Amino acid sequence: MNLRFTEEQEMMRKMVRDFAQTEIAPFVEKMEQGEFPREILRKMGDLGLMGIPIPEKYGGSEMDFTSYIIAIHELSRVSATVGVILSVHTSVGTNPILYFGTEEQKQKYVPKLASGEYLGAFCLTEPSAGSDAGSLKSRAVKDGDHYVINGSKVFITNGREADVYIVFASTNPELGSKGVSAFIVEKDAPGLVFGKDEHKMGLHGSRTLQLTFEDMRVPAENLLSNEGEGFKIAMANLDAGRIGIAAQALGIAEAAFEAAADYAKERVQFGKPIAAQQGIGFKLADMATNVEAAKLLIYRAAELRQRGIKCGLEASMAKLFASRTAVEVTTEAIQVFGGYGYTEEYPVERYFRDAKITEIYEGTSEIQRIVISKQL
Ligand code: CAA
Repeated sequence: MNLRFTEEQEMMRKMVRDFAQTEIAPFVEKMEQGEFPREILRKMGDLGLMGIPIPEKYGGSEMDFTSYIIAIHELSRVSATVGVILSVHTSVGTNPILYFGTEEQKQKYVPKLASGEYLGAFCLTEPSAGSDAGSLKSRAVKDGDHYVINGSKVFITNGREADVYIVFASTNPELGSKGVSAFIVEKDAPGLVFGKDEHKMGLHGSRTLQLTFEDMRVPAENLLSNEGEGFKIAMANLDAGRIGIAAQALGIAEAAFEAAADYAKERVQFGKPIAAQQGIGFKLADMATNVEAAKLLIYRAAELRQRGIKCGLEASMAKLFASRTAVEVTTEAIQVFGGYGYTEEYPVERYFRDAKITEIYEGTSEIQRIVISKQL
């Protein structure tokens, strides 16, 4: 494994870091109040960030997968909200079409997604099918040149804001997960009903919606691949998606560590900076070590993915470790700040609230352990 980033990758890191500082940081407070970062996404589209690993032929920037992971990592240091929007849009909102779509579907949707004109979303989870995604109940029935879809979805990131939804519904319930099919659904599809916008603990600028399909009519040509291939499409794209969420967790953890280290060097108690007191110094040492370990797992998984090597195991290990690290490091960061860390005056309470979801979405830590143990 090459542990050095290329010049191009370092340029991506610098560009995204500058963008996050100048364009996103001033908007964080508005996102905390619930505002969706539409204008930031438009600027990201102008910079080619909405289609980083997408081939130029389909309007993307055609950069390597590691550069894409660098972008999520860097964005999430400033805003985990923007990090997750980009990750969902690319990994599971755009890639299913790129990898499993017909040439016609790719031409129709991918350039608009890659340029940021369209935002993507992924509709797998249902009220009674979360971790057990293969048991979903949404039903798609062929009716002439359309499918009619009924059912409901929950926790849909980018819901309402997205223009294109990858929807999973069963075309043959008797076959269980082998009866699941995937469809490209446009925002204005008749019968697509947007429901409750969840009030979340963190990620306040990102939308998380319930959706219902009420005799939703989708042209038959919008079926992705073949009937019954949907579950595999979901799983295959989640492999890469999980590296993106791991990078989001890494960004949060790194930001929390840096804030805690800076504060510990300034805050004087008992006559010296708290960083020089062993209790805090050891804490910072553990935080930094875990952040570094998460980074190595993530960039190794990204490199495997870039080389086209199967990386489901490594992606799950990276997500499992990085999300735990984010939760632990943000908790410890608040401890380092003491009472100040519990106030909104410092960003560590936001990092703490944003971190927890990384252990839940795109497969809980328990699901990552299932994926890992099955492959050992
Ligand atoms: N790639 C390709 N195919 C795969 C695969 C992968 N990574 N993983 C499984 N499959 C295939 C299997 O090969 C199998 O097919 P065959 O029988 O033909 O071999 C089929 O899928 C079923 O596999 P399993 O028997 O392993 O399936 P399972 O029902 O036991 O479930 C699971 C496996 C890993 C638990 C899966 O249900 C899972 O990942 N659950 C978590 C769901 C999840 O991650 N949801 C995230 C929602 S999206 C989100 O959160 C986005 C957001 O907002 C941030």
